[in-house]
Amino acid sequence: MTPAYSHDVLIIGSGGAGLSLALRLPASVQVAVIAKGELNEGCTLYAQGGISAVTDPSDSFDAHIEDTMDAGAGLSKPEAVRFTVEHAPEAIRWLVDLGVPFTRHPESENGQAFHLTREGGHSTRRVLHAADATGRALETSLLDEAKKRPNITLYADHIAVDLVTGAKLGLSENRALGAYVLDRERQLVEVFAARKTVLATGGASKAYLYTTNPDTSSGDGIAMAWRAGCRVANMEFNQFHPTCLYHPEAKSFLLTEAVRGEGGQLLLPDGTPFMERFDKRGNLAPRDIVARAIDHEIKRLGVEYVLLDISHKPAHFIKQHFPTVYARCRELGYDMTLEPIPVVPAAHYTCGGVITDLDGRTDLPGLYAVGEVACTGLHGANRMASNSLLECLVFAAAASKHIASTLDDTPPVQALPAWDVSRVRDSDEEVVVTHNWDELRRCMWNYVGIVRTNKRLERAWRRVDLLQQEIQEYYSNFTVTNDLLELRNLAQVAALIIRCAQQRKESRGLHYTLDYPQTDTSKPPADTILTPPPGSEGGSKVYDMNQRVK
Ligand code: FAD
Ligand code: SIN
Repeated sequence: MTPAYSHDVLIIGSGGAGLSLALRLPASVQVAVIAKGELNEGCTLYAQGGISAVTDPSDSFDAHIEDTMDAGAGLSKPEAVRFTVEHAPEAIRWLVDLGVPFTRHPESENGQAFHLTREGGHSTRRVLHAADATGRALETSLLDEAKKRPNITLYADHIAVDLVTGAKLGLSENRALGAYVLDRERQLVEVFAARKTVLATGGASKAYLYTTNPDTSSGDGIAMAWRAGCRVANMEFNQFHPTCLYHPEAKSFLLTEAVRGEGGQLLLPDGTPFMERFDKRGNLAPRDIVARAIDHEIKRLGVEYVLLDISHKPAHFIKQHFPTVYARCRELGYDMTLEPIPVVPAAHYTCGGVITDLDGRTDLPGLYAVGEVACTGLHGANRMASNSLLECLVFAAAASKHIASTLDDTPPVQALPAWDVSRVRDSDEEVVVTHNWDELRRCMWNYVGIVRTNKRLERAWRRVDLLQQEIQEYYSNFTVTNDLLELRNLAQVAALIIRCAQQRKESRGLHYTLDYPQTDTSKPPADTILTPPPGSEGGSKVYDMNQRVK
């Protein structure tokens, strides 16, 4: 009964959100950080453009707030936006103190001012960056620092299966008590007990066939929180990044929006610019508008891609600003200093997620959600570029403060039941998992993508519902594996996305449907909030609960 692993705080996820939360906690707090693969693998590592923050005297908090609210299409919460924007400069100072090598402006006084780039939706240059590999610089600095801290234990290749809660154990007090975690190397599910548990598991863009995200983005935290009884909101708002490289060998390679920020233009395959026809901000309109415009032109002309061209800029400028993108394009046979590059939209960011307050608290006492897994109210119906790393940093700091100030009042977790394997056996049909992965992601891409209709959503619902039943049956009978756990979570999240999309009878921000092409102005904008069915936070068996969305 005694948990083998017991910590003050369990953080599930070692990206920008999880690691910065761990580092912000006092040294006296014992912290476990788990990652389902390598410690640095996750979206943070691949972030290119940068982190938005007001650092230039000619910019202002009000302008950053206004741009964010504008992108959010009526659903960003003013208090969450102000909170994030006003805490941004402190977050940047913290990163600079940690040694994150932000690019400086060579022509500034002493060459020390930050070089600021511009991205869609921002009315001014406001994005700090480390060339075009900001995420790598951030993740590396955070991880290096975490490895030095004696109070932080890092566990790679440990995937959380489900949260342990008081309700699931039939206790009178319902709170988060830790998680069941599969040690992938030893093929054992262990129980990690903790006084506070944090979901920092990233987003769910893997629900789509084409995505800019790494494999980690399977919505695990959203699905686990849902199964633990937490509300989830705004899952219909999937952001599609307009410019993913179109190439058969390039799995998920992004061409940063900063290319357009520095003068890059979108062109039709015959070289005609087209963005001005869709929005007066042209190539720097918010992402939903640009992605939809590309989708529209691709379908109208029956072509496979559009082009992104920055070849009119000097070659040294391109190589200096975009070394990563330039090198990868060269490897694949393109030279962006000489020619336009073929691009297509791909699923990029999950704006919705587990509902939290400004301290990162979820509906379940003792459970926090930070980073892309959370729905804090910042992004509303569409996230503005480079606001997500910022959200990770600001909300990690806020949650760490709340955790530190309430930890002493939270009793230690005494004893938790071990994982029960008495009724499962090893699978003899792994193909079911691979087949369902593909079917699910293809179905989401075709029916729940950039442009939706009632009929497509209904079709998607029927398929995902069936897949969920099949996966649940498989999960109940066979030993858990990484792929099975991810598939189970993806199917759960796909169902949440579809349900949210079906409930929104209008087009707003990232959600566009041909059946309701206008934004509904007859009533105030409202979030789509899904509540798990009553009693689902309990359940007779901890290990096989798989709530389906009704
Ligand atoms: P992640 O960095 O994705 O980390 C998730 C962590 O959770 C990983 O450690 C993973 O192993 C772990 N995990 C997940 N599930 C489990 C589980 N069940 N058990 C154990 N561990 C688990 N945003 C910006 O603001 N600026 C940018 O320039 C930018 N560029 C981007 C470029 C690309 C190509 C992509 C894909 C995204 C970009 N974004 C950008 C978005 C941004 O990178 C992410 O929103 C942000 O990094 C999310 O951080 P996170 O810590 O929440 O999640
Ligand atoms: C990019 O560099 O284009 C991605 C920025 C972001 O997703 O915020």
